[in-house]
Amino acid sequence: MSRHAAKLFVQSAQDAVSSRGRFIVALSGGSTPKSLYSLLSGPGYLSKVDWEKTDLFWGDERMVPPTDTRSNFRMAEETLLHKVSANIHRIRGEDEPEDAALACEDELRGTFMLERSGDIPRFDLVLLGVGDDGHTASLFPGSPSLLERNRLAVPVREKDPPRVTLSFPVLNNASSVVFLVAGEGKAEVVAHIIEENNTRGYPAGMVSPVRGKSIWLLDRAAASRLRHTGVEL
Ligand code: 6PG
Repeated sequence: MSRHAAKLFVQSAQDAVSSRGRFIVALSGGSTPKSLYSLLSGPGYLSKVDWEKTDLFWGDERMVPPTDTRSNFRMAEETLLHKVSANIHRIRGEDEPEDAALACEDELRGTFMLERSGDIPRFDLVLLGVGDDGHTASLFPGSPSLLERNRLAVPVREKDPPRVTLSFPVLNNASSVVFLVAGEGKAEVVAHIIEENNTRGYPAGMVSPVRGKSIWLLDRAAASRLRHTGVEL
């Protein structure tokens, strides 16, 4: 799964740099992407991405210092960032959630050169994971942040630690969204989302790029409850 994701990442980066001279991607947190990031920092892939022309954001961050073991930035730093010279736009986990969300929005507007206040950034690629409750990024079931239609990044205070997450308008404006999902623990929620199209209760099922594509990369365990053969395993 991670090798497939690495190939998609490289292809997305090369397409973006050749067509627009830059590649803007939002990384996922959690543990699943660790093997992908390690692959990208290795000999098979490192030189295939023009990291100097790459801007790295995060889909979400836990509001902890960047040195904290729970930090999504720290996980990426340890597996990939220490090997590349990309333009890093981390969410400042050490700040107050609202301040960090506002700063993230400023970075987005500056990097994407958005002119009007209602403009939405269009990521070349957004990497996402799925929790066993169907959350994605830090968009959790029942959270007020699911209803956000104007802001680009919002604080999520109902979690401990609190989070900052990109909003659905940003996720759904991406050119390409790739979900990375592994493990038996995700099989039920994956089946609900992919086969029953049960988007109501599962935020991950509410990600549907309006002018882009959504790809689900699953390992066999996470795909084990899928019944239809149409899914390419
Ligand atoms: C986070 C992630 C979150 C993650 C899922 C899956 O900050 O935790 O952004 O959305 O992708 O919870 O996490 P695992 O990959 O650890 O299962």
